[in-house]
Amino acid sequence: MVLFKKVEELKAYLAAQRAKGMQIGYAPTMGALHRGHASLIKKSKAENGLSVCSIFVNPTQFNDPADLEKYPRTEAPDMALLESLKNDVLFYPSVAEIYPDNLTIPTFDFGQIDKVMEGFHRPGHFDGVVQVVYRLIDIVQPDRLYMGQKDFQQFTLIYHMLKQMGSSTELVVCPIIREEDGLALSSRNVRLTPENRANATIISKTLSSLNEWLSSHSVQQVKEKALAQLGSLPDFKPEYLDIVDGYTLQPINDVEESPYVVACAAVWAGNIRLIDNIILKKLD
Ligand code: PAF
Repeated sequence: MVLFKKVEELKAYLAAQRAKGMQIGYAPTMGALHRGHASLIKKSKAENGLSVCSIFVNPTQFNDPADLEKYPRTEAPDMALLESLKNDVLFYPSVAEIYPDNLTIPTFDFGQIDKVMEGFHRPGHFDGVVQVVYRLIDIVQPDRLYMGQKDFQQFTLIYHMLKQMGSSTELVVCPIIREEDGLALSSRNVRLTPENRANATIISKTLSSLNEWLSSHSVQQVKEKALAQLGSLPDFKPEYLDIVDGYTLQPINDVEESPYVVACAAVWAGNIRLIDNIILKKLD
């Protein structure tokens, strides 16, 4: 694996590879890599001649400074995992490399898509995500960009950003990877107390009950039932559980309203915020 810390050096290397006809797959990450990230890198490696991964804990997307400070940084195991996956290029830039003084980022119009759920509860978060992904894509110029379904709203915004940019980069969304007991993998899981880690299965359990509940209850009733269940354990507090159209991310009142229905949830387990989602229906 080749390691780059400087934007210009990475760009020169990738330009040379591209000139040889190499297709570039790219998985942006914030490190603390787990099997979820590994699934992105494996797919990127399988579908492209060259697989690029970046590790950059982006300060501008943390609306909570304590979360940024406590975000796990695990450089040695991250590098070992990337080596074991035979990832080709690691970009590991400093904040100054990503955000030089003269940097300008275009503004994008996401309509209502960034106003709900994470956008509503984490003000400024998506401005930071869009800013950094724009900058990283501009540097890497990948043929394919690999992101996880776990951040449903994030990949939806990036899809729209690429469209508005007129970009030729294809967004490839990879399924959520879960622990054996159902908990969606997240870099934040390691910060759960043992008791909260054990109880965190309530999130995936609740999400996987929704379709059954919807067969005999209204969307509103199901949301209330789910929120009550998510809040039933000590130390667990749901922030939202929304049942939305998978394209517009706007809440729906009836599953028949949309061909693509997704439930997204954010739950506090102590002082750790976990998100998860499930596709309830997707018609072609
Ligand atoms: O999903 C993440 O890890 C981050 O939001 C991303 C896409 C790497 C941007 O910092």
